[in-house]
Amino acid sequence: MDQLYVSSAKFLCTAVVSGLALSPLVGQERGPRVNAVHLLSSLKKLAEYGRNEEGGISRVAFSSADVEARVYVQRLLREARMSVTIDAAGNIIARRAGTEDLPPIMIGSHIDSVPMGGNFDGQVGSMAAVEVARVLADANTTLRHPLEVVVFSNEENGKTGSRAMAGEVEDREFQLTSHAGVTIGEGLRAIGGEPDRLSTVRRARGDVAVFLELHIEQGAVLDAAEIPIGVVEGIVGIRRWNVSFQGAANHAGTTPMKQRRDALVAASSFVVAAHERTKEIEGSQVATVGHIKAVPGAANVIPGRVDLTLEIRDLSMGKIDEVFAVLEQEAKRIAAELQTTFTAEPYYISHAAPTDERVRSLIERGADALGLDHRRMPSGAGHDAQSIAQFAPIGMIFVPSVAGISHSPSEDSRPEDIVAGANLLLQSVLLADSEDW
Ligand code: HGY
Ligand code: MN
Ligand code: MN
Repeated sequence: MDQLYVSSAKFLCTAVVSGLALSPLVGQERGPRVNAVHLLSSLKKLAEYGRNEEGGISRVAFSSADVEARVYVQRLLREARMSVTIDAAGNIIARRAGTEDLPPIMIGSHIDSVPMGGNFDGQVGSMAAVEVARVLADANTTLRHPLEVVVFSNEENGKTGSRAMAGEVEDREFQLTSHAGVTIGEGLRAIGGEPDRLSTVRRARGDVAVFLELHIEQGAVLDAAEIPIGVVEGIVGIRRWNVSFQGAANHAGTTPMKQRRDALVAASSFVVAAHERTKEIEGSQVATVGHIKAVPGAANVIPGRVDLTLEIRDLSMGKIDEVFAVLEQEAKRIAAELQTTFTAEPYYISHAAPTDERVRSLIERGADALGLDHRRMPSGAGHDAQSIAQFAPIGMIFVPSVAGISHSPSEDSRPEDIVAGANLLLQSVLLADSEDW
């Protein structure tokens, strides 16, 4: 975050000297603009909740840092003269009425992080959405459509909030342990949600006019090409499995090497095979083993069981299934060779989603009006928008991630890019409001 302090300060000095619009009232002749000072300082303040020693944040969903940050964001939303509620999925929903009886334009993202995360993933889109609402309120601009700012719950470990709106959450997910140590069900209750009433948050087609999410790219395409705006064409689908290799726990000193049924040796072979086989298949699919646990996990005991997560992503759900079938065969072969057994239980699915062509071109028109260079691109990261796509037209705006680093305390985006993205979000909201959906 120190990077953000320094680069924000530099950016703001340059902006003041060059007369760049820092207030919504400045540059009105070109249309309203976000207030860069407000936006960057709210991001800086948000970064204090769950700050870690490495300069990023550890603000996993349902942690005390998450709870406190949510209180901060709700305060900002009230200051933007919005009515704020928490729905049964723990989503923060802020609303401002429109002049016509229309479904809302929805904007937003998430503020929870991965363990040892950075200061930009989800946060840029959330605080930009808050800033868009604030600028409109300060300028006494009332849209035709109601405006909804949503901060979705638990994006990083199950996308609970947005998936609940699409009816994708299964009851068994409430029993899963979150990164905060509580179950997802307990966590939802701790942030004001009501898992037993989750169906009440479900939205149907027509309930939302259009959804727009600003997000950092989390890859290096825009940064390498020096293009400030990505217009997202589609978001990858994600499937996850809990995989177990079962062997036999035994004494690490007395069991000869040839008589071992070591589950960790099998799991290790599988981790390498998953990487290699997925690379060999043509396409842009990715597979990751991100968590692994040996049981009982002692230096002097041969691991009797290993639990690990397998995640596969692709823009085609069929391709994900195809890759899984290959990896399942590999796992069975490895398990048999090492006298272990293998099981894989699916526990998470997030459907791949194309963005809406009309929204893509609307964002491009907005970028052209702001003089921002742009390019179309896919998203390899998952986003709340992909669940909203199940019932509403969606669009996503990407801003560059420095060197493409994300899910790390080193995650960084330049203040000028963040402000440009927020202005494009504002512009896109105004363009969307002028149309019928
Ligand atoms: O996991 C993802 O792709 C996202 O950053 N939550
Ligand atoms: Mn993320
Ligand atoms: Mn994110």
